[in-house]
Amino acid sequence: MPTARSTPNIALIKYWGNRNDELRLCAADSISMTLDGPYVDVTVDHAERFALTSTTKQLTEKERARFAKTLELIKRYLATIDLADALPASLAIEIDSHIPQSIGLASSSAVFSAFAKAIAELIENSYGTAGRKPALGKLDGHSALTDEQISVMARLGSGSAARSIFGGYGAIRNLPGDGIGDAIGYQIAPETHWRLHDIIIVPSTEEKKVGSTEGHGKAGTSPHFLDRIAAIPRRIEECTDAILTKDFEKLQHVAEEDSMDMHHCMQTQNPPLNYLSTETMRIVREVESLRKAEHLPVLCTMDAGPTVHLFCEEEARERVLAYAKAQTKCALFEAKTGTGAQIVSW
Ligand code: PMV
Repeated sequence: MPTARSTPNIALIKYWGNRNDELRLCAADSISMTLDGPYVDVTVDHAERFALTSTTKQLTEKERARFAKTLELIKRYLATIDLADALPASLAIEIDSHIPQSIGLASSSAVFSAFAKAIAELIENSYGTAGRKPALGKLDGHSALTDEQISVMARLGSGSAARSIFGGYGAIRNLPGDGIGDAIGYQIAPETHWRLHDIIIVPSTEEKKVGSTEGHGKAGTSPHFLDRIAAIPRRIEECTDAILTKDFEKLQHVAEEDSMDMHHCMQTQNPPLNYLSTETMRIVREVESLRKAEHLPVLCTMDAGPTVHLFCEEEARERVLAYAKAQTKCALFEAKTGTGAQIVSW
């Protein structure tokens, strides 16, 4: 029974909207940094009937349905890469989450990347062992699924999860077709290339009223959506270049432009989604002033919630942390660039 561990990633160029909602085929490319914590462990095992358990919480019917659907899509995808019989009738899945609810971090990128990684390990280790059918296609007893293929499986549960398969700076690239495998994750640079800190300020720990899955489905109703999609290729190029050359100022400009642009799209879609609170905007303004006054390498970015991620270089960490600690009504969490999904036990 393989157990995979994974962590959330925070987008620098955001994924918002799909070209196919069921298959979670992203409308545009995206880039993120994988965090080194908090983590989720997911264990999978062969089973005749689908079973999903969590060590830490009562799962809802909606959550069960999402996992069952993801498993169905993963089987559909495996069939397209000659692995139609790679998984048994069903799976028993156990989730052991160490992501505190109170820090406002979406756990789906961590959960579904760990799920995909554990499935890949199960497939690899099942083939060639006694009592199992030999592989029909690409797995001939020794070769694993590639990280790109594992990222596709992760994406079928949560689009952003495709990026957490990779350490450091992960991304999603759309391929020309509309098939289930036509949006894949890849790595821009590993965690050792550029260690950044993410100081996370959580102004509110209220549950989100509308989750991102629902939100993606309405992204196309924003009159701003097509302009956003048209601007993404230039931003991807700038962000990739900023990461590869470790140019923080360039990263700051493009990441902040894209974050505000995604929120503009969310706020103008129908029905509108406003994830940013007055507290979020106060923090964003104050960090901007702090950056100017003290020439600090720090940037602000927000995903589908009011939580502010302050990415910074080592030299700015102490000052940014001191600012964050002064926000007495907010929860605080700290992470840095992490390794992505890993197998931790079998
Ligand atoms: O992977 P999802 O469906 O939870 O969507 C993630 C959406 C954002 O967090 C807002 C942006 C992103 O690229 O992670």
